[in-house]
Parts: sequence; structure tokens; C-alpha cells
Amino acid sequence: MKNKCDVIKDLLQSKQISFPKEEVLVFAPSNIALVKYWGKRDTELNLPQTSSLSVTIPKKGANTRLKLIDAEQDHIILNGEALDAKHPFAIKAADYLTLFRPITKRFYQVNSDSNIPIAAGLASSASGFAALVMALNELHQWQLGLEEQSILARMGSGSACRSFWPGFVEWHKGQNDDGMDSHGEPFNVPWPDLCLGVSLVSEQIKPVSSRDGMNRTTQTSPFYPAWPNKVEQDLENIKQAIYDKNFHRFGQVVESNALAMHATMMSAWPPILYWLPETVEHMHRVWQLRQQGIGIYFTQDAGPNLKFLFMKQQIGDIQKQFPMLEVVALFSKQ
Ligand code: PMV
Repeated sequence: MKNKCDVIKDLLQSKQISFPKEEVLVFAPSNIALVKYWGKRDTELNLPQTSSLSVTIPKKGANTRLKLIDAEQDHIILNGEALDAKHPFAIKAADYLTLFRPITKRFYQVNSDSNIPIAAGLASSASGFAALVMALNELHQWQLGLEEQSILARMGSGSACRSFWPGFVEWHKGQNDDGMDSHGEPFNVPWPDLCLGVSLVSEQIKPVSSRDGMNRTTQTSPFYPAWPNKVEQDLENIKQAIYDKNFHRFGQVVESNALAMHATMMSAWPPILYWLPETVEHMHRVWQLRQQGIGIYFTQDAGPNLKFLFMKQQIGDIQKQFPMLEVVALFSKQ
């Protein structure tokens, strides 16, 4: 079995041709899974039990500046704050950079600004790790392709492997033990009027990380064995709904997939419940809107905040119910 360092060595074997640049600045967007990744078949390489499908959130994500420094350890600055080396995010970033150390031999300053709340179930780790990989690739001028970068990002945070393309992206679970076939691929069917709304109920850091949450679920939930079949069907149905531009079928898959994922967590032991009272209240508001004939569906990740999906034409009606809603046009031309 290969470990992360072996995979990195394999990928970079023929690539270290140039001197590193002085400093680079990159942007990586975040993505929201519509058919979720929940559970690993390999915890070392972050290989998933199932494929998943996401949509990239334009302009929301991480701006990351990276440079090599003469120091004894990496320096991590997050949203303007220099993190103590023992801070969980600093540990995560430094652990990841350490995987590259046998090749790069140096320490880094990572200065990352995220325009989304960190760790509140809005996939900030996806944009964070995707940006870190993009920055490493650019700083060292490795000239890795997007699929190769996606493989590297997956080893930092699974969902990060889907942040390299706009629009819908499928992460293929792959079959190989080394995970070289487990990466994102764009599902190139645009849906111009599709919008996403983020309703913030809490920006607090989640009590259980997705990593711990999914491992606990796969190990203890009696319902987890049903999850891979559910995902397989949902993937087939969502792709068809996207091709057909059948919004209600699409929304039904998205909402039901998220709720099924949360059902596996609630049935884990100790149970995992990311929901707050406001989360449930927002769900009821969504269902009421649907009863009134307004097309709106939600999805929810490992946090209490819901993300709504709807068509542009419904923005006015939806904002009456959710005045604080931040709306993103998912396929807008920049
Ligand atoms: O990539 P991670 O380890 O943060 O896990 C992401 C898990 C979910 O956001 C709940 C689902 C997904 O596919 O993004």
C-alpha cells in the first residue's frame, strides 16, 4: 500500500525542472456537494466509498499567498491572523506541507484569506486545500495538470479535489489502491439560471470534524451499508435531471441525499447531529415555500447552515422568507 508521500513522489517525479518563484497568489473556489461524499474506503489517501457530485461556488473561496521562508517551521496566517503552531488549522496545513518536504526541503509562509466562514459546513477546507495545491504547483512551477492537482488536494481534504473546475464536478471514487483514478472531473452541463443561497445560522466551528464524523459513521451506523446504493442511484438521477433541466427532480435528489447522509450520522454512536433549532426551522420554511409552489430545495453539509437551490426567477419570493439570504448565481459569466 502506498502512503501520501509515495503518491506525491510518483506525481512529481518528472516535474521538478525549474527554480521556485519568489511568491505566488492564487484563488480557489469552494464547492458544495449535491450528492455527498461521506465515508472513506482508505483513510490514509482519503479515498471515498462512493463518487460524489458538486457545484462550484464562483468567487467564494480562498485567496492564498505562498512563499518559501528561512525558518524552522511553516508560518500559517489565516484571515490576517498569524496562527500559533498548535492551532488545529496550523497543524493541518503544516502536516500537509510536511508531505512535500522530502522534495521541497524548505518551510513556507501561507497567507490565506477566506471569504466564507471557516469550518461552519460551507466547505472552507475544500477551497483552502485546493488553493494550497494550486499555490505549491505555481510556486515550484511543477506544471501539474488539473487532475494531478485534484489528486494532491484530495489527500488534504477529500472535497477539495472538486474545486479545480467551475460548474458541476464529479469526483470519481476510483478503483486503484494508489488513488490515481480518484479525482474530480467536470460534468460539463451548464444551468444558467441555477442559484445557490446561503442561510447562515451559525459561524461556530463544528463540534465534530467531517473526518471524525465520517469515520465514526462508517464504523458504527447500522444504516451506513445502505448509503453507497443510495448515492449510486442519486448520481444517476441528478445527472439526468441536469441534462433535462428538470429542477424539481434535481432538487428532490439534492435534498433527499443530504437528509439520508445526516440520517447515517444520527444513527452513529456516539450520535452526530450538526443541526441546531434554527436549522430545522429553516427546513420547515423551505417546505412551506414549496407548498406555496415556490421551487426551493436545501442541502446541508457537516454543519448547521443550509444551502438553498433555486432558479433565478424565484429570488424575490425566496428573499421575502429569508431576508438575510446571500444569493450566488452559480453559472454567471464573470
Ligand atoms: O472534504 P471533507 O473531509 O471536509 O468532507 C466533506 C464532507 C461533506 O462536506 C459533508 C460532503 C462533501 O461531499 O463535501
